[in-house]
Amino acid sequence: MAPSATFIDVEPPTVVGPATKKATRPSNALPQSLIQNARVAKKEEFDPKQHLNYQPPRSIYTMEQIGLKGHGISPHAATEPFPLFTREAIAQMRAEIFSEVVLAECQYSSTFNKNMVRGMGPARAPFTYAAWKSPEVLAHISEVAGIDLVPSIDFEIANINISIRDENTNVEQTIPLVSNDEELPAVAWHYDSFPFVCVTMLSDCTGMVGGETALRMPNGDIMKVRGPAMGTAVVMQGRYIEHQALKALGGRERISMVTCFRPKSPLVKDETVLVGVRGISDLSQLYTQYNEYRLEILEERIRHQLKREREREIAKRPFDIPEAKRFLTEQKLFIESMLTEIQEVD
Ligand SMILES: [Fe+2]
Repeated sequence: MAPSATFIDVEPPTVVGPATKKATRPSNALPQSLIQNARVAKKEEFDPKQHLNYQPPRSIYTMEQIGLKGHGISPHAATEPFPLFTREAIAQMRAEIFSEVVLAECQYSSTFNKNMVRGMGPARAPFTYAAWKSPEVLAHISEVAGIDLVPSIDFEIANINISIRDENTNVEQTIPLVSNDEELPAVAWHYDSFPFVCVTMLSDCTGMVGGETALRMPNGDIMKVRGPAMGTAVVMQGRYIEHQALKALGGRERISMVTCFRPKSPLVKDETVLVGVRGISDLSQLYTQYNEYRLEILEERIRHQLKREREREIAKRPFDIPEAKRFLTEQKLFIESMLTEIQEVD
C-alpha cells in the first residue's frame, strides 16, 4: 500500500489526558447483580460464523463532509452504528469483563471515567481477544474505515466504559443515566489517542434514549450519529475528529467497549499518542507494546527504503537528495514522538 500521499500534512489535534496521573482502582464496587447476570452457562471459543452479525453501515460520513478533508489517514470519518456481533458474542464478552479475575486485576478509574475495565489480555479474556484479532472482524472494520487497520496494542483490547444506575445499592453513578438535561455529555468533548476506534455497545438499549456519538465539525456544527443498539458498533477516526458520547436516558446501564486501531501498513503515518491512556494503564505493559510495534514499523520502513535504494542503483538513477532527506526527517520525527510518549509518570 502506498503511503498516505493524498493526505496533506497538518498538525494532529492535541489530545488531553485524564487528570489522574497514576492508574487508580475505582473505589466504588459494581453491583453484584451485574456480575451475576453476566455469567454464562458455557464459555465458547470465538467463531465468526456464529458470533458475527455484520451488516454494512447505512451511511459513512466522509472527512470532506465534516470539513476535515485531507486530515487523518482515511477519507472516511465515522460510520453510522452497524450490526457487528450477535447477542451470544456480547454475552461471552460480558462474562469475561465481569469475571472475578478481570474485576480484581483490570479495573481503572480516572477523572474522565469512574469505572473502566482495561488491558484484560488474551489469558483473562480469550473470547474478546480472539474476536478483535480475527481476520473476519478486521476485514469488516477496515472496509468501513476505508483503510486496512489492525488493533493498536493488546492493552487496548479493549477499554470498557461502565455506567450503572442501581437504586438498590449505594453505588456512586459513573455517569448519571437520568438527567433533565439531555445535552449533557457522558464523556466530555475530546480527541482519542489512537488513529481509529471502534465503539461497540454491550448494553441492551431497549428503552434507552440518547447515548449517541456526537461529532463536532471545524465550523462548530454538531452532528449526531444514530442511536446505538446491543452488538452494534461505530468506527471513527477519533484521533482527528472532536467527539463525545451523549448521555443516555432511561436505561439501567450503559456499557461500551472501545477498541483502538492503527494502520496496518507501516508506511502510513502513525500519530498515536499515549497521553490519554498513560494514567489508566499498567505502564510497563503499555510502553512494552507501544515500543515494540513502533520499532517494528521503523524496521519495515528501513527495509522498504533500502529496497528502493537498491532498485534505484540497478536502474542507474542518481541519488535523490531531497527524497533521502524526506525519509530521514520522517523517521527522526517518528523517533522524537516516541521520546515524548515514553516518559516517567510521578
Ligand atoms: Fe473517544
